[in-house]
Amino acid sequence: MMIKLTKVTASAPGKVALFGEHAVVYGYPAMAGAIDRRVYVSVEERSDDLIKIHAMDLSVPGIVLTIGGTGKDVAVETDYRRIMDAVGYVRKAIEVTSNICDLKKGVTVHIRSEMPVGAGLGTSAAVSVATIMAYSAVGGHALNSEEVSALGHRVELEVQGAASPMDSAVAAHGGILLIRPMLREASLTPVKAELGLPLVVGYTPRECGTGEMLRRVRNLRDAAPESVDSILCSIGKVVSEADSAMRSGDLRRVGMLMNVNHGLLESLGVSTKKINEMVYSARSAGALGSKLTGAGGGGCMISLCPDREAEVMTAISVAGGTAFISSISSRGVCIEKGESI
Ligand code: MEV
Repeated sequence: MMIKLTKVTASAPGKVALFGEHAVVYGYPAMAGAIDRRVYVSVEERSDDLIKIHAMDLSVPGIVLTIGGTGKDVAVETDYRRIMDAVGYVRKAIEVTSNICDLKKGVTVHIRSEMPVGAGLGTSAAVSVATIMAYSAVGGHALNSEEVSALGHRVELEVQGAASPMDSAVAAHGGILLIRPMLREASLTPVKAELGLPLVVGYTPRECGTGEMLRRVRNLRDAAPESVDSILCSIGKVVSEADSAMRSGDLRRVGMLMNVNHGLLESLGVSTKKINEMVYSARSAGALGSKLTGAGGGGCMISLCPDREAEVMTAISVAGGTAFISSISSRGVCIEKGESI
């Protein structure tokens, strides 16, 4: 007999886009890896039809938001934009899961993150897939990672207006994936997940969110279609070359291609002065490669720096960023804990 769970905690990893962000939205391939920092979402059944969201400890001051059965907000204690963004993904994740699983439950949701939220580390996708996993489990449904990934992509599309399957796929499956959105079959290929990629991540607050950065690239493409399309196509070629470099374990070449990818992202206008300073400081401190990661407009950069982690972290801090070492994790979305009354 299946035990009825009334409280479920699910977790999902953040991600680093190793290659191909932005171009992947236009159908070009990309490569991204899950990191060893996670988002935890616990969903507890309520006796009424309210959805109450506690978003605390998200590296910014937290909020409590209560949503009525009609979906109308009835109480917001504070309104920090990044937290409100995270809450938007939770609400949409509950809505899409309710529709697919034919579920209508009032729930209390607690979100906790081990990494900065809304900084380009895929926290919105991690929050979405962990919510989908936990909420569906409270409703008695066992969704597999494929299903959670597809629903997570739908959440991102609806909240942001545009999204590739990259962030939700990595949050759902873990490891390093080559994402080829144009191919129906084999669109996700695991890349040597066991490869010990020594990465340092640098963080600086973001000036605007993913939706806005996607709009900026779209506007640039509308204004200069031929040149922007050739940049996007070049990013796709970098990803293919990076795939063979990763498969042969040639980290020097991987680093060099990260530098090329950063230059192309900069030409799309998604980097910032601060991110560039962090990227160039990391290279001067001995990184094999260094680039912006994610949608840009501030946020995070990554450096591939075997045996130079300490030097690169210091260089990023001196350039004004917050640095941490991160490794690739093979753990995708999973249920951490289920409790019944
Ligand atoms: C965001 O982490 C990466 C982007 O390519 C958007 C997406 O793939 O949905 C900018």
